[in-house]
Amino acid sequence: MSSKGKILVTGGTGYIGSITSAELIEQGYEVVIIDNLSNSEKDTLDRIQDITGILPHFYEYDLQEQESIERVITEHPDILGIIHFAAAKAVGESVEMPLHYYRNNIVPMINILESMKIHNISNFVFSSSCTVYGQPDELPVTELAPVKPAESPYGYTKQVNENLLKDTIQANKGIKGIALRYFNPIGAHLSGNLGELPLGVPDNLMPYITQTAIGIREELKVFGDDYNTPDGSCIRDYIHVVDLARAHVVALERMMQNKGKADYEVFNIGTGNGVSVLEIIDSFEKATGVKLNYKIADRRAGDIEQIWANTDFANNELGWKASLTLDQMTKSAWEWEKNYRESLKTN
Ligand code: WQD
Repeated sequence: MSSKGKILVTGGTGYIGSITSAELIEQGYEVVIIDNLSNSEKDTLDRIQDITGILPHFYEYDLQEQESIERVITEHPDILGIIHFAAAKAVGESVEMPLHYYRNNIVPMINILESMKIHNISNFVFSSSCTVYGQPDELPVTELAPVKPAESPYGYTKQVNENLLKDTIQANKGIKGIALRYFNPIGAHLSGNLGELPLGVPDNLMPYITQTAIGIREELKVFGDDYNTPDGSCIRDYIHVVDLARAHVVALERMMQNKGKADYEVFNIGTGNGVSVLEIIDSFEKATGVKLNYKIADRRAGDIEQIWANTDFANNELGWKASLTLDQMTKSAWEWEKNYRESLKTN
C-alpha cells in the first residue's frame, strides 16, 4: 500500500513516541525514528513491528549534535513533518540537574528547527505540557490561560521551546507548528505490547501503581489527602496514551492539509475531566480486580493541587476528542505491566 508520506519522530522509542509511531504506521505513514536510547529500549522497535508489521527506520543519534538531524534528513529528503518527543521529563530530577535539562531539552529543539529551515520542512508537532500553566487561576484551564513562572526547570524547558517554535515560525513563513499541551498521559497500547518503561523507581503515579500491583514495589504512597479537593487527594486530567497518540496524527494532518487558522497553534490535549489519585486507585482496582496496597503519606513538594483541561478548542477546532475511558486507561496499564514482566522472563 502506498505511504501517505514520511514522518520523522524524535524520541520514537519512548513511551508516547513509540505508541504514536505505531499509530502513524497504522494510519499509512512511513516513520523514521531518532532516539539516543537514554530512556528507552531498542527492542521497542520490534514491538512496533509486531503490532504494525513494519519496522520503522531507526537512528541511534544524539539530537544535541546538529549533524545527527542533517544526516537523517539528507538520507530521507522526503520527510513531510516532524513530531518532536525527545526530552527528559522528570520534574524532580530537573530541579537537581537544571543544566542537564536545559541542554538536553533545548539544544535539540534549536537543531531541529535549524534543519527544518535548511530543508524546507514545513510541519512540526511539539510535545508540550500542561505544566506550563502551573496552578491555573481558573479551572478547567484553556489555552488562553496565562503561562506562569515555571515550577521546575523541566517545565521551563517546555515554555522556552514553545517560544523557540513560535519565534522561528514568525521569522520563517514556510514553517508551521502545533504545540500539544499534554495533561497526564497514562495507559498502554491496546495490544498490550507497548507502554511505559520507567527505568528505575517511577516518578509518575500509574507506573508506580502497576509496579506495586505486580509486586515490584512494596506499597504505593498517596502524596497527601489534605488538599482542598472532594476526597483530599490531588486532581489531574488523565488521558489514555492512545488518545494522545491520535491527537498527534490529527495535528500533523491539520498542517499538511493547510487547515490551520494560524501558522502557530496550541491545543490542550486532555479529556476535560478531573480525576483524583484515590479515584485512579479505585478505577485500577475495579478494572483489574487487583487490590492495591497503598497508604496516605505526606504531600510531595512541587505538586499542584488540581488541574484539568478545557478541551473545547481541541474538540471543535482541531477536530480531536479523547474517547477512551478511565477504566480502559488503568486496565491497559496493567495488561502492559504483566506482558512486559512476562517478556523479561522469556528473553
Ligand atoms: C500525579 C499525581 C502526585 C506518584 C506529570 C509529569 C510531568 C508532566 C505532567 C508531561 C500527583 C500523585 C504520584 C506517587 C502519588 N507530564 N502521586 N504517588 O506530577 O501531574 O506530572 O504530568 O509533560 O512530566 O511528571 O504526574 O504521575 O507524577 O503525579 O500520590 O507515587 O499522583 O502527587 O498528585 P504529575 P504524576
